[in-house]
Amino acid sequence: MNKKIAVLPGDGIGPEIVSQAIKVLDAVAARYGHHFEYTYAKVGAAAIDAVGDPYPEETHAICMESDAVLFGAIGDPRYDNNPSARVRPEQGLLAMRKKLGLYANIRPVEPFRTLINRSPLKEELIEEANFVCVRELTGGIYFGRPQGRSEDGKTAYDSCVYTRDEIERIVRLAFKYAVSRRKKLTVVDKANVLATSRLWRETVQDIAPEYPDVDVEYMYVDNAAMKLIQCPSHFDVVVTENMFGDILTDEASVITGSLGLLPSASVGVHTSLFEPIHGSYPQAAGRDIANPIATILSAAMMLEYAFDMKEEGAAIRRAVDKSILGGVVTEDIATRGSKPYGTQAVGDFIASII
Ligand code: IPM
Ligand code: MN
Repeated sequence: MNKKIAVLPGDGIGPEIVSQAIKVLDAVAARYGHHFEYTYAKVGAAAIDAVGDPYPEETHAICMESDAVLFGAIGDPRYDNNPSARVRPEQGLLAMRKKLGLYANIRPVEPFRTLINRSPLKEELIEEANFVCVRELTGGIYFGRPQGRSEDGKTAYDSCVYTRDEIERIVRLAFKYAVSRRKKLTVVDKANVLATSRLWRETVQDIAPEYPDVDVEYMYVDNAAMKLIQCPSHFDVVVTENMFGDILTDEASVITGSLGLLPSASVGVHTSLFEPIHGSYPQAAGRDIANPIATILSAAMMLEYAFDMKEEGAAIRRAVDKSILGGVVTEDIATRGSKPYGTQAVGDFIASII
């Protein structure tokens, strides 16, 4: 098959981890007789530096023409403690999600057998964990207006806004996941406080009868934050709004052993985008220490979800398992006392297995 992939390395460790995923995709193309055509484009601080816009029109056009987007990370410390910065790299990510209509972010959480003893959580708690977070990605407090400051600068406000249509499309997607899995859907909200959460609940209640096989439960986000760590095997499919999903999925990454292992898929209207859930880790940029596995697994999700290449995706997963099992891993997941491998060496190893 011929596929066009837009490649957006972004900031910090983005370029190094993305190039490992490209290595692995090249190995897949060679092994299975596919042709992947890559078009590189700038996003984030890299794009601000080049053209003054964190999501330039040219990048958007490249994404729109692609069959899928592979994305690294966004964020730069030059902007972090600079509240007066006029443009921020993160605005590029948000603009990209909005303009590409990527309303659903799918984050599967499953521990790696070989890393179970490395998690700070007890083995018996996490070994049965296997769930998917479906995070709404283009609404809520990330995009709600008004947002800003009062004239005297002494008051700031953000607005959490959801329409029924926005809720319906993400909830339907979550129900479909539940139908294809263990048929349990947990709706995470704060309906005891927030009006948007109450609209979420109302919408789910209206839709639920269409999926009679799915067992629906409602859980407040504070309780969900506890339950996720206390009893992760409780969950099958979790659906939630943008910011709750952001926070809960970082928390959930502890179950897998490292933030450097969790991939994600963002799907929606115009194309689909695949990215690790972690950020740009600027302290590690250019040092060949960042874990490329989340990005490599994001490439596996791209093959499976966007191109329906199930066997190829599975081949990447097997190769990743081998690298973990054989200890060919970066410092974040290396066993104490053993020598960690560099980012590139891990990428080389995984590509060579394929
Ligand atoms: C993520 C990130 C982003 C988010 C940031 C960089 C804006 O944390 O993809 O989870 O909050 O969505
Ligand atoms: Mn996040």
